[in-house]
Amino acid sequence: MTDTELDIAWILREHGERDLAAAREMFPIEVARKSRKFHRQIPGYRTSPLLALPHLSAMFGVGGIWVKDEASRMELNSFKVLGGSFALYRFIQERLGIPDEKMSYEYLLSKEVKDRLGSITFASATDGNHGRGIAWAAQKLGHPCVIYVHAETSRRRIDAIRSYGATVKIIDGNYDDAVRQIAVDSAKYGWEIISDTSWDGYTAVPTWIMQGYTTMLAEAQEQFSAQGVVKPTHVFVQAGVGALAAAVTGYYHNLFGADAPICVVVEPDRAACLFHSAKVDDGEPHSVGGALDTIMAGLACGEPSPLAWDVLKETVDAFVTVPDYVAAKGMRIYATPLKGDPFIVSGESGAVTLGALVTIMQEKGAKALKEALRLDEDSQVLLINSEGNTDPVQFRRIIWEGSNPVPRQHWSERD
Ligand SMILES: Cc1ncc(COP(=O)(O)O)c(C=O)c1O
Repeated sequence: MTDTELDIAWILREHGERDLAAAREMFPIEVARKSRKFHRQIPGYRTSPLLALPHLSAMFGVGGIWVKDEASRMELNSFKVLGGSFALYRFIQERLGIPDEKMSYEYLLSKEVKDRLGSITFASATDGNHGRGIAWAAQKLGHPCVIYVHAETSRRRIDAIRSYGATVKIIDGNYDDAVRQIAVDSAKYGWEIISDTSWDGYTAVPTWIMQGYTTMLAEAQEQFSAQGVVKPTHVFVQAGVGALAAAVTGYYHNLFGADAPICVVVEPDRAACLFHSAKVDDGEPHSVGGALDTIMAGLACGEPSPLAWDVLKETVDAFVTVPDYVAAKGMRIYATPLKGDPFIVSGESGAVTLGALVTIMQEKGAKALKEALRLDEDSQVLLINSEGNTDPVQFRRIIWEGSNPVPRQHWSERD
């Protein structure tokens, strides 16, 4: 359903009996434990904060807004490193047939592992954050790394990847072209692809990447318990290829079954491949093409990950698309908190879910969506600030210089 007065669009999913086979297979409960056990061994690992925004939630009429703040995750400014590092760990474990009892971060760094592995070049395409995480993890483990980026990737993002010793190549076209090219070149040069998106015959690594993300969710559950909250009632998650969103909904559906939080997936309107797949509604993932021209660089993906789609089609309650100014508004709200709420640094892809939530709570035209999602004073809404200031120039352009303003007809009328 869409509302022509609004720039946001949505599709509500009707679920009868949900088929959770894919979610169960990819996200059994013990996977989050395993992934967290691994991440805990990495020097510099800390649980990322779960921040409450009580004044903002009161202003917009929900019971609580909780932000899992990934801006400082292992100094990489984004949750993405959780997936890449766990995938490298599992890749080496499988390659060398190392039993669980023997696996540790320290063992991965050992001469024994290095000698048995020989020289491996890890490779990936990225729209920024994933490549940075892979470069970081490969450098830590002492392996070369090649990252392909698309032509529109900002220099700051490229420099950040290079700073971890990776070779970066710029590919003509968009993110999906970079993914295709790295597959071709890896076959040619014998590189090992560590991709967060999946394709026919390439599923093990993307599964490990999604599993790695569950560390963040296991942390959040512990943090909710400490606050006396059993679970969020709602989770808003931003999506590019859908791997993060699948990890979130897969995790919660395994943990809580029919009581899982209501899940809303948010995409940029110019790169809305999951929304489009839900619209076609034949059970298959569908691509959108074009320049994928959005300020939400991390979400500028035109092809869903088929593995992620298998989980999402059964577990998502609403697919929502928003224009760029909604993400910019989310960034500004995080950066100028109401008195008593914490200050949060959030990049374009990180802030879009707050922008979407506020739009849904505030715009008259979104009332039907708000009601269908049962967003009210009893709701405890989890948002993931999936990145901090990953592109400082763009960040200042939006926060200081006011680029991507909210159009006048969407200004708030509240006091
Ligand atoms: C900051 C940020 N948030 C969210 C996402 C979305 O992740 P996915 O592509 O798994 O949907 C990305 C992907 O790169 C990202 O960089």
